[in-house]
Amino acid sequence: MIALGIEGTAHTLGIGIVTEDKVLANVFHTLTTEKGGIHPKEAAEHHAKLMKPLLKKALQKAGISIEDVDVIAFSQGPGLGPCLRVVATAARALAIKYGKPIVGVNHCIAHVEITKMFGVKDPVGLYVSGGNTQVLALEGGRYRVFGETLDIGIGNALDTFAREIGLGFPGGPKIEKLAQKGERYIELPYAVKGMDLSFSGLLTEAVRKFKSGKYRIEDIAYSFQETAFAALVEVTERAVAHTEKEEVVLVGGVAANNRLREMLKIMTEDRGIKFFVPPYDLCRDNGAMIAYTGLLMYKAGVRFKIEDTIVNQKFR
Ligand code: KG4
Repeated sequence: MIALGIEGTAHTLGIGIVTEDKVLANVFHTLTTEKGGIHPKEAAEHHAKLMKPLLKKALQKAGISIEDVDVIAFSQGPGLGPCLRVVATAARALAIKYGKPIVGVNHCIAHVEITKMFGVKDPVGLYVSGGNTQVLALEGGRYRVFGETLDIGIGNALDTFAREIGLGFPGGPKIEKLAQKGERYIELPYAVKGMDLSFSGLLTEAVRKFKSGKYRIEDIAYSFQETAFAALVEVTERAVAHTEKEEVVLVGGVAANNRLREMLKIMTEDRGIKFFVPPYDLCRDNGAMIAYTGLLMYKAGVRFKIEDTIVNQKFR
């Protein structure tokens, strides 16, 4: 079976083509600005403009024609309304034109589900990106969010901090580099409530410390990462203890961070459970994870009516 997936919840438009065990194509383009941040209307225009060329590129890479596709999947949310509308419309147009079934996919679940292509069975997922920070897992046949950020996503916190100290976008990789030169831990606000987290106090205090001129920027970056990542590891460990699952996966753009990987590796080794991070192109926002999750859903009997595929609150 072959599935085509369209991802476009935020500023990345991605198109992926997969089978049950292989990614045939995974192409994307991200609308970035110097300052960072996303303008929903501009991102939607970006997706509309690039939909056709990216689709062509994906089909070429996979070496198939659209007629060979068995199911069309699209990211149904959560995401920015104007972007979701473009994606849903494109998926629907393709489904109608080529007479293909269509499946709407939850973006956060897709980030975790793609790990199953690599043999992961039933993980606790730590999903960390610009907009999202969640700990989620299957419980009783349904995905549940065990904990999440109560304010901003960890990637957004890193990007904003980087912007405030004069580094460009995306900030995550630049903060990681700075942090490697950190020598001293500076106390910063640590906010975990049950399995929920908060990063706004940490961000404000880190910026305040930077502006005070009393601290080395490398030490602030190091302390920022240590504090935020310790909180992420704590909530993940709590979810593991609660669900008694034996696998942890790290997904989303911030999964690129080596220190976060290392801290999760230590926690999972201590507990004697498995830890997995997919290749980066399947960690960041991408179409292959949407295609793969759509394929699994379709095979499990999930069916959508074409008229259901408009951006629909019920499925977010
Ligand atoms: O999943 P993703 O591609 O999509 C968005 O949510 O936009 O994630 C992008 C995020 C950005 O915030 C970026 O700064 C962060 O991932 N990121 C990193 C690293 N590489 C990318 N954060 C920390 N360390 C990194 N090495």
